Amino acid sequence: MAPEAAVCEDDEPNSNQSGMPKIIVLMGAPGAGKGTQARLLQERLHLPQISTGDIFRALKNAQTPLAQELREIMERGQLVPDELTIRLVKERTAQVDCRNGYILDGFPRTPEQARSLDGLAAEQDNTIVAINIDVPLDLLEKRMTGRRNCPVCGEIYNIYFKPPKNDNVCDFHPEAQLVHRADDNAETVQARLATYEAKTRSLIEYYKSAGLLHSVAGTREPGDIYGDIERIVQQG
Ligand code: AP5
Repeated sequence: MAPEAAVCEDDEPNSNQSGMPKIIVLMGAPGAGKGTQARLLQERLHLPQISTGDIFRALKNAQTPLAQELREIMERGQLVPDELTIRLVKERTAQVDCRNGYILDGFPRTPEQARSLDGLAAEQDNTIVAINIDVPLDLLEKRMTGRRNCPVCGEIYNIYFKPPKNDNVCDFHPEAQLVHRADDNAETVQARLATYEAKTRSLIEYYKSAGLLHSVAGTREPGDIYGDIERIVQQG
């Protein structure tokens, strides 16, 4: 979860050197490292990170019927309906900080969402670069159940792979206890992986057929993966 990054106020020009504004679509199974890479891209290219998961996590905390519905959907590891998801992405990407491009983390996740993004890209005169972070299924469960987030800055930790310097507190906000996402328990993780296989994996083929797909091996150090992603973005 990245509360400060979900709606970025930073409107500095980005360092995208290759002309047209870009929509960087980070794809991959739950736990593949989309959020980790999106945060690096946001920091270094000055493009806003738009995480639909973060948007829904913020919305589900309200005391409204919609919030209750979102809590149930997310606890079951299912997808939020396309209509709502697409509307929220349209609203968010219409904001001024997206004019030079943006990073989508967790969208699209269905063929309907992908088609709507094609339309949005055409309307906004943006090009799409789709990057799939490839991680074998057997690693994903540990990545999710071991994940912890800082509730202040959204920094992403992992008790197995990237522990904080001091037990369960953020390196940058020592007053903040790290949080464990409600959907990162073993049962919901299995449901999320099944939903990914059923609804989302086919988008790899969708973007491959469109000639827009790039893949990076997601089992290396985050910095090495980032290096490949930045090269793809600058060249693509
Ligand atoms: P969302 O928040 O998008 O979750 P997700 O896709 O399941 O992805 P995650 O956030 O779990 O993982 P990630 O790939 O970002 O990995 P991270 O970088 O954190 O969605 C949550 C829910 O919202 C969905 O289930 C659905 O209900 C709803 N939703 C969201 N978008 C929707 C949409 N478009 N349509 C409908 N519903 C939607 O890394 C994971 C862990 O691994 C971390 O601990 C990290 O430190 C570690 N790690 C990362 N990279 C590495 C590495 N290279 N080596 C070792 N460890 C690493």
